[in-house]
Amino acid sequence: MEKPRVVVAGTLPAAGLGLLEERFVVEQARDGADHGSLLARVEGAAAIVVHPPTPVDGRLLDAAGESLAVVANFGVGIDNIDLAAVRVRGVRATNTPSVLNDATAELAVTLMLAAARRVAEGDRIVRAGGWADDDFLGRGVVGATVGLVGFGRIGQRVAELLRGFDTRLQYSNRSEKPGHGAERRELPELLGVSDFVSLHLALTPDTRHVINADTLGLMKPGAILVNAGRGALVDTDALIEALRSGHLAAAGLDVFEDEPHVPAELRELPNTVLLPHIGSATADARDAMARLVAENVIAAIEGREPPTAVV
Ligand code: 8YV
Repeated sequence: MEKPRVVVAGTLPAAGLGLLEERFVVEQARDGADHGSLLARVEGAAAIVVHPPTPVDGRLLDAAGESLAVVANFGVGIDNIDLAAVRVRGVRATNTPSVLNDATAELAVTLMLAAARRVAEGDRIVRAGGWADDDFLGRGVVGATVGLVGFGRIGQRVAELLRGFDTRLQYSNRSEKPGHGAERRELPELLGVSDFVSLHLALTPDTRHVINADTLGLMKPGAILVNAGRGALVDTDALIEALRSGHLAAAGLDVFEDEPHVPAELRELPNTVLLPHIGSATADARDAMARLVAENVIAAIEGREPPTAVV
């Protein structure tokens, strides 16, 4: 019998790729995010591995056809996947939760510190051969009020990592999550009291542009916004306006609405720290994600329950 075929859209670290190659015929489509070229390559595949920006819709699933057992996302966020389309075709969909909590939470804290202490701006000054004036001042994270919008696995990990900073922690979340030394508040109230607001929500139609002109207006003057979740949680134009007017002191962003495009206005502002979506990008986290992708694919193709199935 022919070995099942696995199409990897983009790349997959060797830790997971090797596990797949031991069992299946693996084809890497390095131009993975290109929907058109992917459509042409998936026919007869038993599994498709995708990165979060790659849309998984009915067309892609139909292009793969009856052979398709699973779509495995190399990431925890599943806003790229049309779950109803997956479900109706009897296909499984999986993601990579938990193994990237440390890396992503750490990056959110990095962005808080970098934006607060103007790390990128200072770095640019030194690289240009300059030096800081005495009025090159930032603000401290120690003792600040931090608002975590969304308090799932990653948000809770941020709360744990911030413990040594003696922050006053607030969170907004659908359900109460006791035991993290953080107080639950409604979003408007959280925004009104937080010196730092960090976004840890899944992107859904309900959370799209949750940070918009109105909610930015509720934020404390001089507050700092951090987003290591999904770009579309924030209305970029409204954020640019809030940064330009000085209402927000700074923003630390790892994600953008139209990645990899980053608006020139954001790039030109001195008070932004901009990263190329590297929240989960530690070698350990990426290896663990790749292994989990492989375990999900192997289980689904062998007819077992995938360890981290979303459908
Ligand atoms: C990506 C992410 O998976 O986990 C997520 O939801 O967005 C990231 O970890 C990673 O950048 C690989 O594309």
